[in-house]
Amino acid sequence: MSTKKKIGIGVISLGWMGRLHARSYRTVSERFPELDAEARLVVAADPIEQARRAATQDLGFERARADYRELLADPEVEAVSICAPNYLHEEIALAAVEAGKPFWVEKPVGVSAEQARRVAHAATSAGLVTAVGFNYRHAPAIEYMRHLVRSGALGRITNVRVWFIADYNSSPLGPLTWRASRKRAGAGVVCDLMSHGADLA
Ligand SMILES: NC(=O)c1ccc[n+]([C@@H]2O[C@H](COP(=O)([O-])OP(=O)(O)OC[C@H]3O[C@@H](n4cnc5c(N)ncnc54)[C@H](O)[C@@H]3O)[C@@H](O)[C@H]2O)c1
Repeated sequence: MSTKKKIGIGVISLGWMGRLHARSYRTVSERFPELDAEARLVVAADPIEQARRAATQDLGFERARADYRELLADPEVEAVSICAPNYLHEEIALAAVEAGKPFWVEKPVGVSAEQARRVAHAATSAGLVTAVGFNYRHAPAIEYMRHLVRSGALGRITNVRVWFIADYNSSPLGPLTWRASRKRAGAGVVCDLMSHGADLA
């Protein structure tokens, strides 16, 4: 049996990203055997009943709740993934700060710069460890690129061109989700995909 410290995880929202976070937590031990801690999937929160059922039946969570506030109030939850649609990030992140839980919030942190600043300020003031879902940063090729730039091997960089090729939102027959609403997403593709490009640059 593993003697590693177990860190209790709560995942808020079980759409595309929430499920991916859940799968990723499960593989931490396999991918990073040198760590002396592993994730324990304690609670998932999603208002959709099927998502909650999948959480406990398929994704390995011990329990599931409809309201994310119950997840944040759970003493066994030590760290949180916030994978909700963009318009809920600020509200949930501020509630996580209030609950004193370190969190990873998916990008973008809010639907406006003001929202993102409020979250950053609250988390920093509370001294919480946080991260934003700019996951491409950690791809080995990108880290090596960063090393090349920082070491000066490529000289002074004056221009960056980013291509981000994705078609998941391209079908006119696809469902009209929060992503297609400026109010709920914050912006269009600039927010959804180009934010990764700006972050990498
Ligand atoms: N880092 C990346 O590469 C990456 C990739 C895709 C999406 N994202 C980000 O992840 C976030 C989620 O995107 P997605 O594609 O997984 O969305 P999605 O539409 O697939 O899933 C959203 C989920 O949120 C749930 N939800 C709705 N209201 C809720 C509430 N009040 N409380 C809790 N859950 C609620 C829905 O039931 C659904 O399960 C977005 O911020 C998006 O920008 C990041």
